[in-house]
Amino acid sequence: MSLLEVENLHIAYKEIEAVKGVSFFVSEGELVSIIGANGAGKTTILNAIMGLVPSQKGSIKYKGKDITNLPPHERAHMGIRIVPEKARLFPQLTVWENLMTGIYGIKKQISLEERLKWIYGLFPILKERETQPAVTLSGGEQQQVAIARALISDPDLVLVDEISMGLMPLLVDKVFEVLKELNEQHGKTILLVEQNALASLKISTRAYVLETGEITFSGTAEEVINDPRIHEAYLGG
Ligand SMILES: Nc1ncnc2c1ncn2[C@@H]1O[C@H](COP(=O)(O)OP(=O)(O)O)[C@@H](O)[C@H]1O
Ligand SMILES: [Mg+2]
Repeated sequence: MSLLEVENLHIAYKEIEAVKGVSFFVSEGELVSIIGANGAGKTTILNAIMGLVPSQKGSIKYKGKDITNLPPHERAHMGIRIVPEKARLFPQLTVWENLMTGIYGIKKQISLEERLKWIYGLFPILKERETQPAVTLSGGEQQQVAIARALISDPDLVLVDEISMGLMPLLVDKVFEVLKELNEQHGKTILLVEQNALASLKISTRAYVLETGEITFSGTAEEVINDPRIHEAYLGG
């Protein structure tokens, strides 16, 4: 059974049809990418899975349950977390306080001490920055806080929105390495949306190509990389 199953999803902002009948799935333990250009509908799809935008048609199933009409906090209780576009931290709160917003209201029993130890193992710099306001961090460090905030509750599905945006190439590699490690060593199921096609395909098990609200290609990461048309459009020929 798939952990996440999206079927015939339609989302419109008034007259703008952003998502036009999209279907895809993510199985437990996978790292799946949706790649697409700016405006393709990537953020809209992730926000719909989190419950942040309503869908007009179609269904979203998670752990076999239809969650299409559940509010975001109920989806969060069920173990879904999002790392939003551009981190969206609370700028005046410290790193530690930002991390704590990630466990607000969770029902799962966790040992905070153990979770923090694990998080600081993944992102040692956050331990050093623990008492600094988020606004004083670099872009790369803020992205790390955003990932850590999503992970602290020990979620079952992590949605990652354009994590490479605005990062220096060196940091992009590092952040993708962490995502790969989370998936391979820690068994986290991850759905990634990215314009940075090559970097995300390198760490993915499978991928979908999204073009103006429609999925036009899907396959293993290798199949997507090797498709001549995709290569030309997204990977620079
Ligand atoms: N809040 C909104 N109101 C109106 N149109 C929107 C809104 N958010 C996104 N859109 C439009 O929906 C389409 C998909 O946007 P988005 O999901 O942000 O794409 P992506 O994340 O792939 O760049 C675009 O045409 C965008 O302009
Ligand atoms: Mg986006």
